[in-house]
Amino acid sequence: MTIIVTGGAGFIGSNFIFYLLDHYPEDRVVCVDSLTYAGNLSTLKNVLDKPNFRFVKADICDDKAIAQLFAEEKPDIIVNFAAESHVDRSIEDPTVFLKTNILGTANLMDACRKYGIQRFHQVSTDEVYGDLPLDRPDLFFTEETPIHTSSPYSSSKAGADLLVLAYHRTFGLPVSISRCSNNYGPYQFPEKLIPLMIANCLHDKPLPVYGEGLNVRDWLYVDDHCRAIDLIMRHGRVGEVYNVGGHNEMRNIDIVKLICHALDKPESLITYVTDRKGHDMRYAIDPEKIHRELGWLPETRFEDGIKKTIEWYLDNREWWEEIISGEYQKYYEKMYGNR
Ligand code: NAD
Ligand code: TYD
Repeated sequence: MTIIVTGGAGFIGSNFIFYLLDHYPEDRVVCVDSLTYAGNLSTLKNVLDKPNFRFVKADICDDKAIAQLFAEEKPDIIVNFAAESHVDRSIEDPTVFLKTNILGTANLMDACRKYGIQRFHQVSTDEVYGDLPLDRPDLFFTEETPIHTSSPYSSSKAGADLLVLAYHRTFGLPVSISRCSNNYGPYQFPEKLIPLMIANCLHDKPLPVYGEGLNVRDWLYVDDHCRAIDLIMRHGRVGEVYNVGGHNEMRNIDIVKLICHALDKPESLITYVTDRKGHDMRYAIDPEKIHRELGWLPETRFEDGIKKTIEWYLDNREWWEEIISGEYQKYYEKMYGNR
């Protein structure tokens, strides 16, 4: 079986590639990534020489490059991770989110229609459901919760989801969609909450908490997400959406304090800064469907996952120090310099 993984030089896509190569040595894995600021070829350095792995630098919006790749590889499964993924950047400049996340997804599916595939799996997000109020802990996102987005990022992901379902109904494309909660783990780009706080702690820099830090996210260790996607793309029902999450809700401020303590840094580094525009209050997934149909349950407890993640950032300083010493500095100054 040949599996194309788009966005595989990013955080979750790279972890998914490692997962596939570990668990299915007989499969061929082809990574397609345009290496935006968030893509890093060095992340894949340990697998680049494997005979059943190929890296192709291409934009998912480039119809010619994608057609050539499909003609060469005749893939069985496409898993689409490629996306602009950071809410704060989408607030600064939505256009590239619409291009990659919506048009790129359509371009991939057009190639699937032309060449024929067994499955197109779209990696989506719980953010397409909007947010839940803090005073209703009894509410969770199910697959029936209406789409109700808040940011240009989540709107672009929701647009892609609707197109994926439309390609299934209109053209009979064999699709599936997973909507996962916030991931954490190795190789996450240091613009996101957990790696940003770890990196800042290690540099004794202020820890910028948006608003009052009371927003709640439902955190899942990245390997658990990878296992869920693998189950869905192989055994999930065609045309279906599966929510993925582990009932692990945490307030931002509690995560930041936990990281401070784990790294033996003072809480006085915490700095409350101007809130994100349109900031979603609470995300919480009901993962009953994927549990019932596919037997999926999270395996990594948050206490263990966060410990492993912090250790990984301590052991792999060169990976993230390299990132934050480059273009990232301009980004950081723009987003946090005067906040
Ligand atoms: P990421 O930003 O770390 O990685 C995205 C990757 O896509 C990068 O390697 C980048 O170079 C590549 N890419 C971007 N535009 C491209 C294009 N036009 N053509 C080819 N490659 C392109 O993102 P991530 O956190 O790994 O997220 C991966 C997917 O999972 C996204 O679709 C995201 O919406 C979804 N998701 C993420 C989370 C999370 O917590 N990070 C949770 C749920 C869903
Ligand atoms: P983030 O990692 O950007 O993921 P998302 O917005 O997709 O959930 O942010 C997680 C939470 O942390 C979110 O409520 C915003 C907050 N946050 C901060 O308080 N400070 C920061 O510097 C960042 C990046 C995020």
